Amino acid sequence: MTAPVTDNAVLKLLNVESAYGPIKAIRGVSLQVRRGEIATVLGSNGAGKTTILKTISGIIDPRKGSIEFKGENITAQDPALIVQRGLMHVPEGREVFPLLSVRDNLLMGAYTRKDRDGVARDMELVFNYFPILRERAAQDAGLLSGGQQQMLAISRALMANPDLILLDEPSLGLSPKLTKEIFEIVVRINRERGTTILLVEQNANMALNASDYGYVLENGRIVMEDTCARLREKDDIKEFYLGMKEAGVRADRRWKKKKNWR
Ligand SMILES: Nc1ncnc2c1ncn2[C@@H]1O[C@H](COP(=O)(O)OP(=O)(O)O)[C@@H](O)[C@H]1O
Ligand SMILES: [Mg+2]
Repeated sequence: MTAPVTDNAVLKLLNVESAYGPIKAIRGVSLQVRRGEIATVLGSNGAGKTTILKTISGIIDPRKGSIEFKGENITAQDPALIVQRGLMHVPEGREVFPLLSVRDNLLMGAYTRKDRDGVARDMELVFNYFPILRERAAQDAGLLSGGQQQMLAISRALMANPDLILLDEPSLGLSPKLTKEIFEIVVRINRERGTTILLVEQNANMALNASDYGYVLENGRIVMEDTCARLREKDDIKEFYLGMKEAGVRADRRWKKKKNWR
């Protein structure tokens, strides 16, 4: 499998390794996100998805490798500088400011901007994507449901008018219905605004349907990559991530023993 042409890549990781003390969480991770696409990293709990995003946004400094954003080296840069360059991170578990109103949470996303008209326009834009946030604009964000907080966290990132959004498991703790609703809006934002997105997910079904290009992460290493259209057709992805096992005990046993990629 050949990697596509790299010219229009907004983000490039090359051989990135990050660790927590002696524990290597990700190793030899190389990936890229092209302008205007949704790319996804699929992996089960503990695979290293959050570590990849934290390393990109400068929260963790990598031990090895390099990260390039819009053609510039941002490896181990100050997270605030990376935000200023146009990269927003929607963290796992949303992390809204619970004691601030919904509106003030949104304005926090726009803190680097000077164009007040643009900020007002973008506030209107996120209210159109997520009408519930307009209704709750004056309420404390801590009073929102989990799904609404996820909407707010995504909207706060949009308020920066970023070139790239990192989205960490938006489905976590949400009902299938709400997850579907949020993914549909994420896809709309990507199609209508051209916002480039790197999404990491355990929910392979949702992520593969929403995304253009995908990577499979296992124990901190990327073990497979392809267009999502092709990944959806691969038997091991179907069986292991999409739960579409063939009937019969043999298939079952095989998966309990060992996954065998490719
Ligand atoms: N703060 C931390 N200290 C020590 N180990 C950590 C820490 N955060 C994550 N890890 C370990 O790093 C690995 C990858 O974790 P993480 O990136 O959170 O995975 P994922 O987001 O895919 O669930 C796991 O083995 C996890 O236990
Ligand atoms: Mg995680």
